[in-house]
Amino acid sequence: MRLRYVKGSKELIAAHEAIVHDPKELKGRWHEFFGNSNPIRLEIGMGKGKFLSTLAMQNPDVNYIGIEKYEAVILRALEKKESLELKNLALICDYASELGEIFAEGEIDMIYLNFSDPWPKDRHAKRRLTSDTFLEVYKVILKKGGKVQFKTDNTALFDYSVERALACGYDVPALTRDLHASEFAEGNVCTEYEEKFVAEGKKICFMQAQYPCK
Ligand SMILES: C[S@@+](CC[C@H](N)C(=O)[O-])C[C@H]1O[C@@H](n2cnc3c(N)ncnc32)[C@H](O)[C@@H]1O
Repeated sequence: MRLRYVKGSKELIAAHEAIVHDPKELKGRWHEFFGNSNPIRLEIGMGKGKFLSTLAMQNPDVNYIGIEKYEAVILRALEKKESLELKNLALICDYASELGEIFAEGEIDMIYLNFSDPWPKDRHAKRRLTSDTFLEVYKVILKKGGKVQFKTDNTALFDYSVERALACGYDVPALTRDLHASEFAEGNVCTEYEEKFVAEGKKICFMQAQYPCK
């Protein structure tokens, strides 16, 4: 995604009431925040929010939380949330690094990672959202039977992610290197990046990882 400077986006996001500004204060209380006991699904690096706003519209009985680090980008997600009046979508503008401080054990039903930044240099591997560091935290915040779902066009990142998930003790019940030609295509909601890559003829890799020992 080409990041365009959007004048005033920093100030607008910082002051906007529809953004969750103190997510750590909601640790263990997200159901209270949404006002129901519906499952809670999280996307890290939500970008402009097409994926999560579509899901939130399709599934009013599921709560969604999107985390995105850039104000100019999450602003687009905020516009979708507002225009579609999505009460089951919460937005956090932050660099996701302390997820264990934001969510209690077992509070999350599903984690979506869509076209995550690849951080190709070895010395940056810990920053990948499918590194052991993150996978270990996901184990804690996911409920029993919860899943991490990952999509990418980057085969090197995909291979790394499958390897790390297995090494961290996850099962990988769903895996394909061509999502759109696979059995998992049904019901798939495309992200902004996915639409662009598919239009360019790229294949999309997809996996779901589940930690069996909870
Ligand atoms: C390549 S884009 C993909 C956007 C969207 N998921 C899609 O598929 O269209 C990756 C997005 O993740 C965000 N991002 C990457 N690492 C993040 C992190 N640790 N915390 C929050 N946002 C992050 C980036 O700012 C960017 O908007």
